Amino acid sequence: MPVMSALPGTNAIADAVFETHLPLGGRRQGKVRDVYSLPTKSGESPRILVVATDRISAFDVVMPTAVNGKGRLLTEISVAWFSFLRSLHIASDHLVSTDVSTIPGIDDADRTMLAGRSMICRAARVVQVECVARGYLAGSGWQEYQSHGTACGITLPAGLRQCEQLPEPIFTPATKAAEGHDENISFTAMCDAIGGELAERLRSMTLDIYKAAAARARARGLILADTKFEFGFALDAHGEATSELMLVDEVLTPDSSRYWPVAGYAPGRDQPSFDKQYLRNWLLERVARGEWHKEPPGPVLPAEVLRETRAKYEEAARLLA
Ligand SMILES: Nc1ncnc2c1ncn2[C@@H]1O[C@H](COP(=O)(O)OP(=O)(O)O)[C@@H](O)[C@H]1O
Ligand SMILES: [Mg+2]
Repeated sequence: MPVMSALPGTNAIADAVFETHLPLGGRRQGKVRDVYSLPTKSGESPRILVVATDRISAFDVVMPTAVNGKGRLLTEISVAWFSFLRSLHIASDHLVSTDVSTIPGIDDADRTMLAGRSMICRAARVVQVECVARGYLAGSGWQEYQSHGTACGITLPAGLRQCEQLPEPIFTPATKAAEGHDENISFTAMCDAIGGELAERLRSMTLDIYKAAAARARARGLILADTKFEFGFALDAHGEATSELMLVDEVLTPDSSRYWPVAGYAPGRDQPSFDKQYLRNWLLERVARGEWHKEPPGPVLPAEVLRETRAKYEEAARLLA
């Protein structure tokens, strides 16, 4: 049965999916997604079910209240981008189907809950590096630039302003931290960790995808300031990693990317972020009052925050999907 609310008394809007407990094996839980193994016939390569729940995280803390419908909106956006990216032939991807009618052993209530928020995917051995492309100077890139004139060790021209467009998009990898914040690493450190040849391939695919995606977003009124991809090696029927490198996880959603409306964009200041800004601001007010310290558990979110946040994801889906 779907869990229809957050923890007892945490004010989730009815029907929001905080977490799932499906009768399938191999359950893993990320910040937003619940992942299961799907049964396969012999000779078939393994598949997983990736369920985008309505959980929302901010400052790397999963909030105790879910945003009703967010998982569906994220899935809609990812699927649209996967379809666009396939037409470019830069990288293959893990998406097989979004049809939940083929999932064995679950009841109708689960099927209804899963519809629209699920992706049946080829299982991968995920490369443990977050592949980040940045076309603009924001977030941790801007932080590092202010103190060292660099972003992930890449020397940038002097005099760049906050949120300014970079002369060329740059690749700024980060480690996939199991707990807490991801950490930016230099390209050299990435080469040491996973090998130079693979690192070069990932850098080149990441930048090529970023450039194509940024152009598509721009045509829809959004600046894609930066984005993060995960890649993995497709598994074969024995569960061994093959040499096929593919895009996995979610792609180009407001959770994995920084989108700014083109209208109103101006360097030299922070930009209104497209997605969680309202939630972040609300949380920062709590931080300023000493009511929250950016550590779990997050505060229960009031209806207004949920409504405003959901509206942003809806707008993103309307523009991008
Ligand atoms: N095709 C795949 N094969 C194996 N693991 C995958 C695949 N696609 C995504 N994943 C993993 O599933 C998890 C998705 O959960 P998510 O909530 O996005 O996690 P996170 O908190 O790390 O962002 C991630 O750990 C991601 O690496
Ligand atoms: Mg993720």
